[in-house]
Amino acid sequence: MTMLLQFTLFTALGSSVASASLQPRLQNGIALTPQMGWNTYNHYSCSPNETIVHSNAQALVDLGLSSLGYRYVTTDCGWTVADRLADGSLTWNETLFPQGFPALGEYLHSLDLLFGVYQDSGILLCGSPPNQTGSLYHEAQDAQTFASWNVDSLKYDNCYSDAADGYPNTNYAPSISPEPRYANMSHALLQQNRTILFQICEWGISFPAHWAPSIGHSWRIGNDIIPDWRTIYRIINQAAPQTDFAGSGQWPDLDMLEVGNGIFSSPEEETHFSLWAILKSPLIIGAALRDEVTFINDASLAILKNTDVISYNQDSLGESVSLRRRWTEDAYEVWSGPLSNGRTVAALINWQNESRDLTLDLPDIGLQYAASLKNIWAGSTEQDVRTSYTATVAGHGTMLLELQNTTASGIYSTAVFGSSSGVRTTTTFEEIYAITTSTQYILTIYFSQSVSSATNLTIESSASNTTSSKQVPASATQLSATIPLTARSSNTITIDTSLSIDSIHVTPSNGTYYPSTNFTLSGSSTFTTCGIGYCEPVGTKIGYISPSGTAKVTIPATTGGSKYLSIDWINNEIAFDSSWGWGSNSRNLTVTVNSEDPVRLEVPLSGRHSELFGPGLGWWDTATLGLLTDGWKEGANEVVISNVGGEDGFQSYGADFVGLRLLD
Ligand SMILES: *[C@@H]1O[C@H](CO)[C@@H](O)[C@H](O)[C@H]1NC(C)=O
Ligand SMILES: *[C@@H]1O[C@H](CO)[C@@H](O)[C@H](O)[C@H]1NC(C)=O
Ligand SMILES: *[C@@H]1O[C@H](CO)[C@@H](O)[C@H](O)[C@H]1NC(C)=O
Ligand SMILES: *[C@@H]1O[C@H](CO)[C@@H](O)[C@H](O)[C@H]1NC(C)=O
Ligand SMILES: *[C@@H]1O[C@H](CO)[C@@H](O)[C@H](O)[C@H]1NC(C)=O
Ligand SMILES: *[C@@H]1O[C@H](CO)[C@@H](O)[C@H](O)[C@H]1NC(C)=O
Ligand SMILES: *[C@@H]1O[C@H](CO)[C@@H](O)[C@H](O)[C@H]1NC(C)=O
Ligand SMILES: *[C@@H]1O[C@H](CO)[C@@H](O)[C@H](O)[C@H]1NC(C)=O
Ligand SMILES: *[C@@H]1O[C@H](CO)[C@@H](O)[C@H](O)[C@H]1NC(C)=O
Ligand SMILES: *[C@@H]1O[C@H](CO)[C@@H](O)[C@H](O)[C@H]1NC(C)=O
Ligand SMILES: *[C@@H]1O[C@H](CO)[C@@H](O)[C@H](O)[C@H]1NC(C)=O
Ligand SMILES: *[C@@H]1O[C@H](CO)[C@@H](O)[C@H](O)[C@H]1NC(C)=O
Repeated sequence: MTMLLQFTLFTALGSSVASASLQPRLQNGIALTPQMGWNTYNHYSCSPNETIVHSNAQALVDLGLSSLGYRYVTTDCGWTVADRLADGSLTWNETLFPQGFPALGEYLHSLDLLFGVYQDSGILLCGSPPNQTGSLYHEAQDAQTFASWNVDSLKYDNCYSDAADGYPNTNYAPSISPEPRYANMSHALLQQNRTILFQICEWGISFPAHWAPSIGHSWRIGNDIIPDWRTIYRIINQAAPQTDFAGSGQWPDLDMLEVGNGIFSSPEEETHFSLWAILKSPLIIGAALRDEVTFINDASLAILKNTDVISYNQDSLGESVSLRRRWTEDAYEVWSGPLSNGRTVAALINWQNESRDLTLDLPDIGLQYAASLKNIWAGSTEQDVRTSYTATVAGHGTMLLELQNTTASGIYSTAVFGSSSGVRTTTTFEEIYAITTSTQYILTIYFSQSVSSATNLTIESSASNTTSSKQVPASATQLSATIPLTARSSNTITIDTSLSIDSIHVTPSNGTYYPSTNFTLSGSSTFTTCGIGYCEPVGTKIGYISPSGTAKVTIPATTGGSKYLSIDWINNEIAFDSSWGWGSNSRNLTVTVNSEDPVRLEVPLSGRHSELFGPGLGWWDTATLGLLTDGWKEGANEVVISNVGGEDGFQSYGADFVGLRLLD
């Protein structure tokens, strides 16, 4: 299990990871894949009107978008009025929607589109004044009204909702969870004869991934997308700890798309669209497709219409990608996940705003080989990809790959990786990947058939000049040996034997775990003991790590070179207020080995419980990411965890530290 260590990003968690709901689902049969559509808000803000909705709906059809799945058309904030009708029912603004909402629904249905409405779980709609009435305490009547209008979906917002605080516009820290308000509307929708998709939009407050799946079909994971490139990093950092909650009928909503709004470059739009698609977010277009003054540009339209990317979003398996590896210093990162039919989708994001060649190491996504690979935005394909794939990625762009007919990492078949010389006595395996520099790799040689009589064999690794000899006993089918390999270089292993080799497997050692409790603290850093079953696997973490608050340990190594550290960390600093500014849902950590240059890892959120009411307020939930560090030497090494340079960042405190595993 070569990749176990690297990919157990969220296995070290408490018992509450199950994403399946224990309660009956709101409705069956809809949102089996993430919903797709169009919404007024990102372009028209809270100023929609009938003309706008009509012309954009018609454009969805004319531009070929509806036939690709974009069918829910939602009029966001701004559609209603301050007062309810005499019978207490909701109504629309007649100036803006002269034909009325039931007629709007008929119009959309006549185009084979779906009718989406928007309301609020508070007393007023977002975007008020002028005060527009919300649905709080009117859930039953409003759900009935929507059903009577033949509505197909409800986006349900969270403004003016906190009675205890006098109904402020927004309250990111209410004294009770939004859940019961959303449950009330969910219940009301369930009473209707009509199937209505319920989009929960409470900005990620109180970790809705835990409760939203049982009462709605999608939940917003965080605060609004903003029209600035930095919003992408902030949002995917919030998606990171909850990717496994995605599934049929329950989708994490990363918010509506900005593709086509003239905010991002084309590569940035590709990154935005790729990540939203493979994280299984609903894909809701937020651009003006067509109105009296605007027409979406061809490049953005082509991005929204990319059928490969749409197919990843709508894939029948319904599994989200997750973050595999973040190369913070090198400004790129890798996400991947499974698709139906044994395929894999992977995204490598170039955070630098410059075009450059970047390499995806297949082992970082759990693979060693792909018989075929499709590079979506480059429009190219490749066969027989061994160990790594390099391609040019535009500044802020994404290398989006579909891999097919793959082999798991650590497995090297002779047919693909081997080449023989002599009378088939020497087989050299190339492109051997090493996550760390170590003499402790376990090589297992699988023979094509069981060995008839004892046979000699020698093994040589490019990482050393020594050859080791082994005797294979009669009737053996495999042989194991310990070999050295060098991190990140393309190693070769040469085996000299008359036996026919089917494949070799190469596995790094499990390494040694250094719990936070073995570190010596200085400055601001402090130990915190967590609740039982939290801060896994240690139960204790180090907080308040800062430029002057460090945690230090001495680690013996068997060799020098570059070593891989698997770091267990915690971060639940959620960007609510700061989401409009520079809030990034991330924190830094630096690792300094033997006074070399510190290596920085900027981690996303790890919290998987409510930041208001959950155990440890989500600051007890561990996640894991790996880091390659240089400057190791044989014997004792000093390793310092800190946040060097933190005073220049958004947040001078680093992520909390639980422990690390050294692969030596
Ligand atoms: C609808 O909005 C558009 C764009 O803001 C505007 O040009 C048009 O006059 C509005 N129409 C109505 C009926 O309000
Ligand atoms: C309807 O919308 C228009 C334009 O925003 C606004 O001036 C008017 O006050 C609204 N009508 C009501 C009844 O709220
Ligand atoms: C909106 O409602 C609030 C209280 O509900 C009231 O204080 C305010 O004056 C109203 N504003 C307008 C423009 O009607
Ligand atoms: C939910 O609805 C019930 C009545 O059906 C009401 O008593 C309760 O206050 C509502 N809860 C919230 C949080 O709005
Ligand atoms: C639902 O439909 C049934 C049969 O058509 C009808 O008897 C019932 O009144 C309807 N309920 C609602 C809430 O509309
Ligand atoms: C990225 O580079 C492009 C092209 O040079 C430039 O137009 C854009 O402003 C840059 N974006 C950022 C966020 O710096
Ligand atoms: C994948 O493997 C199957 C058989 O296992 C084969 O039929 C198919 O052609 C292969 N596809 C590619 C793209 O290599
Ligand atoms: C195999 O190696 C052993 C010990 O290294 C040696 O004694 C023996 O002669 C070798 N056998 C063959 C067939 O080379
Ligand atoms: C192998 O030997 C060569 C020549 O003696 C030397 O330059 C090289 O550094 C050695 N490699 C290793 C990994 O020891
Ligand atoms: C490495 O860890 C795995 C999983 O915990 C375990 O099954 C395996 O025995 C370990 N290997 C070694 C060499 O300790
Ligand atoms: C951590 O500290 C404990 C107690 O001193 C010690 O027994 C253990 O070996 C240490 N772990 C490592 C990996 O050094
Ligand atoms: C992490 O460090 C980088 C580089 O100093 C900085 O730009 C960024 O703001 C830091 N992140 C946080 C959350 O402080």
